[in-house]
Amino acid sequence: MNITEILPGIHYVGVNDRTTTRFEGLWSLPQGVSYNAYLAVGEKIALIDTVEESFGSRLIENIREAIGDRPIDYLVVNHMEPDHSSSIRALRLLYPQIQIVGNAKTLQMIRGFYGIDAGTLEIKEGDTLSLGGKTLSFYMIPMVHWPETMVTWCAEDGVLFSGDAFGTFGAIDGGITDSQLDPSRYWDEMRRYYACIVGKYGVPVQKALAKVGGLNPTTICSTHGPVWQREIPQVIDIYDRLSRYEGEPGVVIAYGSMYGNTEQMAERIARELAAQGAGPIVVYNLSYADESVVLRDVFRYDTLIVGGPTYNGGLYPPAARLLDLIAARGIPQRNFGWFGSFCWASAAVRCLGEFAEKMKWEPICEPVEMKQGFSPAWHDSCRTLAGRIAGRMRR
Ligand code: FEO
Repeated sequence: MNITEILPGIHYVGVNDRTTTRFEGLWSLPQGVSYNAYLAVGEKIALIDTVEESFGSRLIENIREAIGDRPIDYLVVNHMEPDHSSSIRALRLLYPQIQIVGNAKTLQMIRGFYGIDAGTLEIKEGDTLSLGGKTLSFYMIPMVHWPETMVTWCAEDGVLFSGDAFGTFGAIDGGITDSQLDPSRYWDEMRRYYACIVGKYGVPVQKALAKVGGLNPTTICSTHGPVWQREIPQVIDIYDRLSRYEGEPGVVIAYGSMYGNTEQMAERIARELAAQGAGPIVVYNLSYADESVVLRDVFRYDTLIVGGPTYNGGLYPPAARLLDLIAARGIPQRNFGWFGSFCWASAAVRCLGEFAEKMKWEPICEPVEMKQGFSPAWHDSCRTLAGRIAGRMRR
């Protein structure tokens, strides 16, 4: 059984990367990542996307295994971020006759990144390309998550080649399609991928969902992670919820602490929330937590409580970093509470309040601001904050 032939004439030729530690130099990859590329084989052959260039020789081996020495007629470029496009130059050297298919923005980027401006075919929204037995058509999904992003649709097979859309972190373990592996381990990685990579672009993702939903794909071939078939409803639900910034009930408490006093406020607030029936609750020490995991849960849950001490007349840097990540993604609303501390000059709580104002997040309650060390004297104010937040969550 050749499981890389997903459907007759549709071959998976991508690769797993279990060595890169940070995607885009930023986001951790504890379970690796895959760079997916596909062949659509009719009378003519199209390669859809490539892989990160350090894996280019494996891509070539996979292509050869699928089609031997047959030439490739077209290279369809759905997305130009170099994790998918940086093997284009090598492909062109190996297959000099290959026609590179992309929209105007794609072709401009191919010139800019790789100096290629010949042997290209510019396509527009709704254009079709017949391979003989398979027909590809192209639909633009700009800003998911670059301006040139598009999807390729093969109507005969009901296959959507979706680019980064519906992608996830996590290498593909053995199987290719979701029925050949355990899909459950990808859901958190999908949320983390979405929050880190696509999170700023909720509105374009919603437009893309409306557009590709009308195609009713039965197979979704993304550029990262398993090929989706059986799990398409779950995958679409995750992308839909996240792109509507619709948090599910749950609390993230994210705090910074130098000597444990602010940490005790976080612990007390978490305990009080649990006592009042709020949950699930996840608590992160921002000096140690993986920021992509915290960001994932900020996207996932509807309630966020941030705390930190005052540092250099501002907010403790790990807490400030989280706020920057959230602000950059324009999350429109969360139930937000905050707390902080200072030794001799107050600043952290003010900074957190300014963040809420900047985000236009409606304050739920007064923050708790502690001077110097934690003691039982602070229990009541932590309980009050937790009570207001729990009350808002129950509404
Ligand atoms: Fe997987 Fe936006 O590249």
